[in-house]
Amino acid sequence: MLRTEELGYWYQDKEQPLFQQVNLEFEVGQSYAILGHSGSGKTTFLSLIAGLDKPREGAIFLNDRPLTEIGLTHYRRHEVSIVFQAYNLFTYMSPLNNLLTAMAITGASHAGDQDYARQILRALGIADELMTRNVQHLSGGQQQRVAIARTMCCDAKLVVADEPTGNLDEDNTQAVIAQFQRIAHDQQKCVILVTHEPDVAAQCDQQYRLENKQFVRLAE
Ligand SMILES: Nc1ncnc2c1ncn2[C@@H]1O[C@H](COP(=O)(O)OP(=O)(O)OP(=O)(O)O)[C@@H](O)[C@H]1O
Ligand SMILES: [Mg+2]
Repeated sequence: MLRTEELGYWYQDKEQPLFQQVNLEFEVGQSYAILGHSGSGKTTFLSLIAGLDKPREGAIFLNDRPLTEIGLTHYRRHEVSIVFQAYNLFTYMSPLNNLLTAMAITGASHAGDQDYARQILRALGIADELMTRNVQHLSGGQQQRVAIARTMCCDAKLVVADEPTGNLDEDNTQAVIAQFQRIAHDQQKCVILVTHEPDVAAQCDQQYRLENKQFVRLAE
């Protein structure tokens, strides 16, 4: 579904690319973990496949159409759903309204369906009394789960997440990974997540490590 072709990126110095000549394919129904040292370029890679920045070299294709042809604004709104390292929720809203707003903005098939939004929040362990509270009065881990719920309620087939379990305890980490696996397998989406935790990576269907400017597929 998503494919990179000879992808390369550097910030200032062309002689020091973060990665180069990257040819990868990601399919729906699968979850992918990306590992790598701090500063290796994982977040940068996600920002390219999320359409937040443009490659220096090469191209990215969604179902064989280059993102440049789809248009990055359309792509970001309708084709991809992002869980950032900082959760970027709509801050003055409740969890429930975060989901309803995201569904409305993206024109999701469940737009306006409160029961659906509540059901997803509940599945991520957000209790009913938290659903209508301002998200700023939630803990970091709770906010992160709301961000994941927002991804689940929208229709975008590509879900990218940057260290989505970074703020979570053991139990919630397990719950969140289970939800990502449901997004991939039951919702038939493509999940690409960056993590520093080998246990988390091991539970994804495929693992890659970014090292020496290349994404190396790890053996199962
Ligand atoms: N806007 C920017 N301008 C210049 N350099 C940047 C910029 N953003 C990131 N970098 C540098 O690019 C490199 C890769 O950053 P990136 O955030 O992609 O790493 P990462 O693998 O996600 O690291 P971490 O695991 O710590 O989140 C780092 O050395 C970082 O300092
Ligand atoms: Mg990062």
